[in-house]
Amino acid sequence: MSEATPKQFVAVLDFGAQYGQLIARRVRDLHVYSEIVPCDIPADELAAMKPSALILSGGPASVYAEDAPSVDPAIFTLGLPVLGFCYGHQIMAVTLGGEVAHSEVGEYGPATIVRDGESSLYVGTPDEQTVWMSHRDAVSRVPEGFVVTSHTDVCPVASMECAERKLFSTQFHPEVRHTEHGRRLLENFLFDICGLDATWTMDNIIDEKVAEIRAQVGERKVILGLSGGVDSSVVAALVHRAIGDQLTCVFVNHGMLRKGEPEMVEEVFRDQFQVPLVHVHAEQRYERLLAGVTEPEEKRRRIGSEFWKVFFDEAQRIGGVEMLAQGTIYPDIIESGARKTGGKASTIKSHHNLIPFPEGVHFDLIEPLDHFFKDEVRELGVALGLPDRMVYRQPFPGPGLAIRIIGEVTSEKLEILKNADAIVREELDAYNERLFEETGERNSEHSCWQYFAVLPDIRSVGVMGDERTYARPVIVRAVESSDAMTADWAKLPYDVLGRISSRIVAEVPGVNRVVYDVTPKPPATIEWE
Ligand code: XMP
Repeated sequence: MSEATPKQFVAVLDFGAQYGQLIARRVRDLHVYSEIVPCDIPADELAAMKPSALILSGGPASVYAEDAPSVDPAIFTLGLPVLGFCYGHQIMAVTLGGEVAHSEVGEYGPATIVRDGESSLYVGTPDEQTVWMSHRDAVSRVPEGFVVTSHTDVCPVASMECAERKLFSTQFHPEVRHTEHGRRLLENFLFDICGLDATWTMDNIIDEKVAEIRAQVGERKVILGLSGGVDSSVVAALVHRAIGDQLTCVFVNHGMLRKGEPEMVEEVFRDQFQVPLVHVHAEQRYERLLAGVTEPEEKRRRIGSEFWKVFFDEAQRIGGVEMLAQGTIYPDIIESGARKTGGKASTIKSHHNLIPFPEGVHFDLIEPLDHFFKDEVRELGVALGLPDRMVYRQPFPGPGLAIRIIGEVTSEKLEILKNADAIVREELDAYNERLFEETGERNSEHSCWQYFAVLPDIRSVGVMGDERTYARPVIVRAVESSDAMTADWAKLPYDVLGRISSRIVAEVPGVNRVVYDVTPKPPATIEWE
């Protein structure tokens, strides 16, 4: 846990839950800071983090399975309010002397709980309510001092509590939207039972982060690599708010951003924020570097390592820089295996080691977003005054258009792709906007989530005027998705596709054909590489 952690915070002990991150997000949505910690954290280590309350997550195991995740029983003696969900409910029961039994019938999906007696957890909710269940095992006997507070037809202990010790648990998942009153239950726990305040708001967060960054940096100079992406832009705006011109941003322009993006970086950071900005025109350097390279992984490798070379050269040139600010965000840390390595400290270290510092070069790192989820980073960006088109930028590969050009990257192909891609984006931005006007929803059923052009490494015959052409096709890719894990091709109206096609062949020299990719992910991926 970073020194940055605000005083009031809820630790979510993660038992390998499908919904682990979701719990932390729900708590944060209620403006209370929350962080995920490994379930087997020793009680003294947990106490040292000074959490205000604990939530025990669900998990896929059976509590009696041989390598079932367990919890240090001493966490229940720290005097902290605890709320357990699903596996967390069962582990609380067995750890405190109750029993869990294999049920004949499991419960998966919606279920109706009927309440038993009064409970401060359920204040303001009806006696019968719909909840989301996902379990086979169930608590069969509650620990001493506990009472049952609800049941279902097949689950005798749908929730239990020992109000005196502020220990509560539910077999169901209050964090899932399908649990009708889940939000209210969480509110009851956080505000009435734990007495926490809803103070984790964007304005407070900015004030806190600014103070922290100032304390951490002191008088030192900081450097930051701007990529044009959301995370580095938000860190730049935040660090600049904190330390002003002690920050220099280095924008390594590899020439493979989309049309208009380098100009946007200049406009926002140099003109609007007035951040000292070094725009390194490395376009030709990258062109030489990628000459003859056709293999996508090799393109990625070369582009990535060259970035650091250019960046560190620039840092040396600026001189006297001691710190490096980075846009690491919370999922980077969680996904890099906090759980696997058994603790966040070791993970952060291995993650930092990925930066290829040259011999004899070292910078202290600041990563002020390392505990934020992506949507929180966006919110922060908006609150700091970054424009929507930067904050809500679509996902974009680090190596940029290089991987959307199949085969060798040349300046001629880059020019074609940038121009074709700009048309795809313009038309589909307008299409999404029309859907928004019709439905009132930003991500409605048929709106496109990500869209771009791809340039394959082939040519085909066409005819333009009276001339035979032998030119390139452009592939249009547009998908509906929510998280890029799965995606479907967008069912675009023919007139939209037709306009994209006719505009590209008319406006982009070197293109005589436009095709639309109608493959979902899986089996395809979103990008072509
Ligand atoms: P695929 O092609 O695997 O892509 O379906 C899934 C999502 O990831 C994005 N993507 C990247 N994002 N750096 C990123 O930040 C990268 O190097 C990168 N490569 C792919 C892709 O655009 C899609 O949204």
